[in-house]
Amino acid sequence: MHRRQFIRAGLTLAGSAALSRFSFGGQDSSSTAAAPFQFPKDFLWGAATAAYQIEGAWNADGKGESIWDRFSHTVGKVKGGYTGDVACDSYHRYPEDIALLRAMNLKSYRFSISWPRIQPIGAGKPNQKGLDYYKRLVDALLASGIRPFPTLYHWDLPQVLEDQGGWPNRELAGRFGDYAGIVARALADRISVWSIFNEPNVFVFDGYYHGEHAPGRTSREDALHATHVVNMAQGQAFRAIKAVNSKLQVGSAHNFGYMQPASQKPEDIAAAERRFIFWDTLFVAPALTGKYPSVFPDPEQTFAIQPGDLETVRAPFDFLGVNHYNRDIIAHDPTAHDEFDSRSVRFVEGPITEIGWEVWPEAFEKLLLRLAKDYNLVMEITENGCAYGDAPDEHGRVPDQRRIDFYRGYLGALARAMQQGAKVRAYHAWSLLDNFEWAEGYTQRFGLTYVDFRTQKRTLKDSGRWYGQLAASGRLA
Ligand code: GCO
Repeated sequence: MHRRQFIRAGLTLAGSAALSRFSFGGQDSSSTAAAPFQFPKDFLWGAATAAYQIEGAWNADGKGESIWDRFSHTVGKVKGGYTGDVACDSYHRYPEDIALLRAMNLKSYRFSISWPRIQPIGAGKPNQKGLDYYKRLVDALLASGIRPFPTLYHWDLPQVLEDQGGWPNRELAGRFGDYAGIVARALADRISVWSIFNEPNVFVFDGYYHGEHAPGRTSREDALHATHVVNMAQGQAFRAIKAVNSKLQVGSAHNFGYMQPASQKPEDIAAAERRFIFWDTLFVAPALTGKYPSVFPDPEQTFAIQPGDLETVRAPFDFLGVNHYNRDIIAHDPTAHDEFDSRSVRFVEGPITEIGWEVWPEAFEKLLLRLAKDYNLVMEITENGCAYGDAPDEHGRVPDQRRIDFYRGYLGALARAMQQGAKVRAYHAWSLLDNFEWAEGYTQRFGLTYVDFRTQKRTLKDSGRWYGQLAASGRLA
């Protein structure tokens, strides 16, 4: 079950069943109090975006069609019929966006590169105009003293590659490696830290199994084959970037949930652990160990593994990118038969944001400690944030206190994890701007900046001002 469905199921079940607040352990307010904490001097404060969600200019300067162009242009796929055709028009307005980063004293900008801008049909010679756009963006960031931190793939596959079978097609691993090499050769002189994928678990399962995201397929077999091809592509891209310069640091941004057992019953604990292994390790373990985690009895057959593939999937990340949004509470479901959907049922207990995700900062602390223990890698928080629809008031200010509370809570959790030894060097708020929230269109606003989509006027929200002060002082009060 994917992130969005989890919560929907949770809402219908919330408050039902025999789960009491006590059985969760509740959230201990003393442990979540935001004690004053001084982040290290060199800690990188940042914000994140993604190409399809902000750039617009969907067919400008030789860009090819992506699966998200096709999907959003298809009636009934995105709420309100919204598309990313214009989005925040960042393709043209990126200097304004960099000015916002500067206004918030941020030192790292996580953005993504659109594959079909670079290779319109997913193969062959690069489109120079596409590369030039990212060079301009990166140069402008560097001139502002901001670290450019690109993600090579944030879900916008060239449509031509989908027409050739999409991610379940093994050929895409090599194609993606070629693309990664092209981008690295063009930008390696300016960029030293690289992220390969954004949330492979989300784009594979939402795109190929649940069908709520592009390309909108609903096949278990496609999703399992895509899992393996994406793992191979991750390995190919890793090596392609390192081949340009072995000193470049390479990782991927993964969506990690914190899986909390609904009770201390052994079967609930086991169900939560199974869920953790399935959701949180399927695209990390192969990269780091050359093996699939033990969720499927026969991985060779499940993933259609061929000789040599388990070498190809290897990608010994230099850092772990962590996207985290919410906790999942897992109970054993005796009727379940499928790792994808129904081995667990879920509940929510804390406040929920407008997209329906639970606010539960303590889960972030526990997750980071678990990741620190399991991988012992330096981490970058690549995304964390919340959706609230606050809009400008009559004075033009955007008072979004709930978002400030959210960040205060989650950054307090991060601070506690760091105090207990988690090595975290950067935090990126999702998002710099209100933007195109995939199947939700523009109905969900995650930005530190309010965007009026009729005029493209950007207004820093109160949360943006608050975050900017924190970035300047590094002190969480
Ligand atoms: C994701 C993506 C972002 C989203 C954000 C809020 O996690 O889905 O990385 O593109 O916009 O997470 O849903």
